[in-house]
Amino acid sequence: MSTSFHPLTILDVRQETDDAISVTLEPAPELSSDFSFRPGQHLTFRADIDGEDVRRNYSICVPPGGPLKVGIKRIVGGRFSTWATRSLKPGGTLDAMTPRGHFTWTFEAGEARTYLCFAGGSGITPILSLIETGLATEANSRFTLLYGNRTSSSIMFLEELASLKDRFMDRLQVYHFLDAEADDVDLFNGRLDEQRIARVLSSLVDPKGIDVAFICGPGAMMDNAERAMLDAGMPQQQVLVERFTADRPAAADEEIDRSVAALAEGLGMQITIDGRRRLVPFHAETGSILESAQQAGLPAPFACKAGVCATCRARLVAGEVRMKVNYGLSAEEVAQGYVLTCQSVPLGEGVALDYDA
Ligand code: FES
Repeated sequence: MSTSFHPLTILDVRQETDDAISVTLEPAPELSSDFSFRPGQHLTFRADIDGEDVRRNYSICVPPGGPLKVGIKRIVGGRFSTWATRSLKPGGTLDAMTPRGHFTWTFEAGEARTYLCFAGGSGITPILSLIETGLATEANSRFTLLYGNRTSSSIMFLEELASLKDRFMDRLQVYHFLDAEADDVDLFNGRLDEQRIARVLSSLVDPKGIDVAFICGPGAMMDNAERAMLDAGMPQQQVLVERFTADRPAAADEEIDRSVAALAEGLGMQITIDGRRRLVPFHAETGSILESAQQAGLPAPFACKAGVCATCRARLVAGEVRMKVNYGLSAEEVAQGYVLTCQSVPLGEGVALDYDA
């Protein structure tokens, strides 16, 4: 999988809410097939902000087939989102890697499935792509969207959702939950927390009738929604969760991570990237194989450095590593030997990793 960045032309920038924009982008014609994507996948962007190489992932919010479009919400203290919401202009360019990600589903014409989507804030972006693709592909399938926001003015893609509802009136249900505004119906007032999700599943939506659940939003909402769907008896592979960030590890885990890294100090690792193999030492103070490789001058790919995006994925071809957390790789990828190098530390001599595999 290519780890290089390509400049995409910015076709349009639209203010979606006070603090969120959508950006429509187009690759050079010779790269259009490389930038084809599956619904729910994301792009990794790179920008030089005050001399620092800053990278972030943003989900594509449209169905495959047209230009790329992402939603970017400014978060307090967020370097990339603050820069992007102020600086991106039509006619400019934005560097991106080709689309990737596992938060996707194969929709099949002829299927009649029932999908339940949990979205919070900008977590709507990949879910919008999945809903639109699913409704258009599976003429007999239904979607229910439970969408949490602070206020009605902070809801992203309200127009798109309204037009989808018009097009697919009988097959799409949208319920908004607002923390800071009161509706006549108490159920819709407040966060999608454990109690509210339980109330929804006992009154609005029968979890027994759900075939697939898509979940993307704040960490606590995702944990609660995932647990509720699994408790309702859904198989894990039909409950898809997309995380943008990871919680900070507990202090005890950080202590273990530091000890493991200290023991690995100086271990040699064979690293293959862009067809070249190099022997690189592990340095405990970097904390990860990724950063040791970067310190040695290798162009090892990354974005979140938090175990979420899988941009730093490499295949472990020899030896053993300890991966601190993994929110980005599927069980299948782990079984195939892939690791997140931003989270990995070698556990002995003889570690060999291949970023090109
Ligand atoms: S850089 Fe995102 S998981 Fe490693």
